[in-house]
Amino acid sequence: MLSRRALPSLNDLSRSVLRTGLAILSRQKRLDGLFLVDATCGNGHDTLFLADTLAGLGARCPILAFDIQPEAIARSRQRLGPHGGGVIFYERGHETLAEVLAEYAPKPRLAAVVYNLGFLPGSDRRVTTTAERSMASLAAAAAALAGGGLMSVHAYGGHPGGSEELEAASDWFGALPAGQWTTAGYALRNKEKNPETLFLAEKTADICFNPHPAPSAGRLRPDGWEPGGLPPP
Ligand SMILES: C[S@@+](CC[C@H](N)C(=O)[O-])C[C@H]1O[C@@H](n2cnc3c(N)ncnc32)[C@H](O)[C@@H]1O
Repeated sequence: MLSRRALPSLNDLSRSVLRTGLAILSRQKRLDGLFLVDATCGNGHDTLFLADTLAGLGARCPILAFDIQPEAIARSRQRLGPHGGGVIFYERGHETLAEVLAEYAPKPRLAAVVYNLGFLPGSDRRVTTTAERSMASLAAAAAALAGGGLMSVHAYGGHPGGSEELEAASDWFGALPAGQWTTAGYALRNKEKNPETLFLAEKTADICFNPHPAPSAGRLRPDGWEPGGLPPP
């Protein structure tokens, strides 16, 4: 059915880009073995979207879902229901992402990382993401992202600390090196309350990196690097 509006919501835009990026990785047979991260699972909408998208692609990548609030983890588990088989929940801050990834052997590379910043709707609005923690988490996510992987960060400026976080995210995405990343920011320009921006980044460096080289593939170095592409970060 034809939508009644031509401009996508920031949520729809994020999902469309994530769907496309994951489909490209799947078609290139580079999705298997990668992990996905929902850094702020909240009510579980984004985690469910990721799980459904993977199911549609016939992929079985683990999804790591973080939130600091037990209530959010419970709501997300409930929303996922039978779709939650591949989801591993972490009731801890996303700023611990690097530590969590280091618990896996081999350390996983990521296909997509999603952040929906701010507070949990329908809960205590004083519990929010913060600029400092979110930027630490973004740095860990960027380092672990595979070539062709995507980051999506939906930031809001209307709550206490929100505008600092939105500005920090804007600076952070703007500083990613152009030879290795394509980044974008889509802002609702005339929204009167609670400004919103969706930041998107695609890792274009190490696009030839194969996270799980076959032992018999003689042209791959032991670190998985395939000659002919850009060096790993
Ligand atoms: C806007 S909500 C997320 C909505 C969610 N993505 C969804 O689809 O329903 C933001 C969430 O971030 C969580 N949060 C706050 N600080 C966090 C942190 N350091 N690490 C992980 N989650 C955090 C909050 O508890 C809240 O549930």
